[in-house]
Amino acid sequence: MTKGSVEGPPMTAMSLPARALPFVGARAVTCHVWLSRRLSCPERYLGLLDDAEQSRAAEFLREQELGLFVTGRVLARAALGLLAGIPASDVALHTRCPGCGGSHGKPTPVGAAAGWELSISHSVSLVAVAVTHGHPLGVDVERYVAPAEPGIPVEYEMVLTPAERSAVESLASDRQAGACLTLWTRKEAVLKATGEGLNRPMDSLTVSAAGQAPAVVGWADDEPGAHPRIALVELPRVDGCLGALAVQGADTAALILGSGADMLAERMR
Ligand SMILES: CC(C)(COP(=O)(O)OP(=O)(O)OC[C@H]1O[C@@H](n2cnc3c(N)ncnc32)[C@H](O)[C@@H]1OP(=O)(O)O)[C@@H](O)C(=O)NCCC(=O)NCCS
Repeated sequence: MTKGSVEGPPMTAMSLPARALPFVGARAVTCHVWLSRRLSCPERYLGLLDDAEQSRAAEFLREQELGLFVTGRVLARAALGLLAGIPASDVALHTRCPGCGGSHGKPTPVGAAAGWELSISHSVSLVAVAVTHGHPLGVDVERYVAPAEPGIPVEYEMVLTPAERSAVESLASDRQAGACLTLWTRKEAVLKATGEGLNRPMDSLTVSAAGQAPAVVGWADDEPGAHPRIALVELPRVDGCLGALAVQGADTAALILGSGADMLAERMR
């Protein structure tokens, strides 16, 4: 395996805040997040994937999609291997869609890495892998592209709750699309932590406004005990991507940020 074979110049620890500790409280859960550009030669890493993943890999028509998928799964194995103290090649992931039974959906570490929780996200050229122990978590990264028109982009029609919309509308119109994307990453991270994904409508939960400390403000069906406690953390902007991390059963999350390129170079030599 080639050292540093990621898209573009290597993203070293120097280009990332080495350790970001937003705030640490009594129920702080430590979470690891690695960010990497997608591998430029994903075919070289296919041998690390299991049969189901290789079948999925064979279905991607575009090199970019293949690269993002393989980078996520390889980075996940490297990360889980590092934390569980086993070779990356011994990390097994189980992925089963609860809807159709297909081998897509939220990947769960099994076997020697059981008990660790994993979440993967990709956008254009960036891949994020988040891992912690014993707390389901969700990560989302999204590339920001400035819209042609100022204001709230039409695709947020079914995404924002009335409270979120009015917070966005209070901003200057040229800042509204960026604020919407911040809310999107917060909501998607939460829905990936619960495992529901977009099966749950995005406007069924309200998150704090862009510029405020990330938090879940409430759910549409806000019955006591109906939803788990969830901590939200903002990721640093990398490669033009905004990002958020959500952790179930936590009041706060202490984020340990790493360079995926460095880890792959170290662990996949
Ligand atoms: C999860 C979801 C929101 C991610 O959307 P996205 O923004 O396009 O993609 P991201 O890059 O941020 O995340 C993709 C990763 O999320 C993970 N994922 C997929 N479904 C997930 C779920 N329900 N919960 C948590 N994580 C999930 C996977 O690891 C996936 O990457 P991989 O397949 O390459 O490993 C979206 O795919 C979704 O809602 N899926 C569920 C819809 C569903 O169940 N459809 C039924 C199909 S039969």
